[in-house]
Amino acid sequence: MANKLVVVLGATGHQGGSVVTALLNHGGYSIRGLTRNTESLPAKDLAAKGVEMVQASLIDKSSLVAAFRGAYAKVYAITLPFTGVNEDVMGRNIVDACRANNVPLLVLSSLPSSLEVSNGKFNVQLMEEKCRVPAYASEVGQPTVVFYLGAFCENLLQHMGRSQLQPVSADRTKWQIFYPIVPASVPQPLSYISADVGPSALAVIDRWEDPAARERLTKAPIVVCSFMITGEEMEQTIARVTGKEVKYVPIQVPEPMKTMFDFCAEVWYPDELPPPVLKDLGVKFHTFEDYVREEVVPFMAKQ
Ligand SMILES: NC(=O)c1ccc[n+]([C@@H]2O[C@H](COP(=O)([O-])OP(=O)(O)OC[C@H]3O[C@@H](n4cnc5c(N)ncnc54)[C@H](OP(=O)(O)O)[C@@H]3O)[C@@H](O)[C@H]2O)c1
Repeated sequence: MANKLVVVLGATGHQGGSVVTALLNHGGYSIRGLTRNTESLPAKDLAAKGVEMVQASLIDKSSLVAAFRGAYAKVYAITLPFTGVNEDVMGRNIVDACRANNVPLLVLSSLPSSLEVSNGKFNVQLMEEKCRVPAYASEVGQPTVVFYLGAFCENLLQHMGRSQLQPVSADRTKWQIFYPIVPASVPQPLSYISADVGPSALAVIDRWEDPAARERLTKAPIVVCSFMITGEEMEQTIARVTGKEVKYVPIQVPEPMKTMFDFCAEVWYPDELPPPVLKDLGVKFHTFEDYVREEVVPFMAKQ
């Protein structure tokens, strides 16, 4: 029997890349990765690893309908902010394309309503757009597991075109983490995307046929965050592991990031982290120290 087909949106990006890696490591699924450009280097790298790379765009529903075609397709999907197209529209395209193909499971990366969780104090546009997609999926009867992510650990090394972690002395012994707005003492939920999102999605896909697991997975959105950590703890951990001097420095940022990080400084997930439902399914979440050893140390060595 042919392997079950999993379709991954954003396969060349952080989240999708993590899901593709987990599926490749598992070895028991066929993988179709979606990209806007099958000729790009990242797309060709994935094709060389055995991923079927297919051209599709979130703003072109017919391309998604064609790309989701498959006897047993399950989809890991993201929508994208700051593109000029409402994420709600992208999300509806994803859901409609799932329905058109009777996709048995959509794993959707989303975020909660900022207005709802802050009792009306913060209106973070990208959160308000993302949160409408699970509601639409439920309205049209698309079976969906919703992931809520925290700030990405990966932002430290790549965020909005630059790294948050930067050397501040010529000999590279002193570093600063230029983090938007959030004071150094405030705990933040972080997701170590490359290490933890893929195994989390894989656990959902692998256990979808188990009615008891399915009931728990669909009860509420799952907060896929690896740990809570303060800026002070980040600087201490990086300093301890690397032997460098590290300072966490909150910085001002323009809108729309300002409102988003004002929100992060005041309101976040109340849930237990990492999420018990995924730990119970065998997902082994990583620590910030793991991230520093695996990603930050090689990054610093290259600067
Ligand atoms: N950074 C954070 O701290 C954070 C926290 C929570 C949530 N998020 C959310 O995470 C999402 C970004 O995820 P990510 O970091 O995994 O993405 P990413 O690394 O920025 O990569 C974007 C991916 O989307 C694909 N893509 C871009 N435009 C597309 C389009 N029109 N149609 C189809 N695919 C398209 C790109 O593929 P090609 O270039 O190959 O087409 C690429 O694979 C955003 O929604 C963001 O709001 C981020």
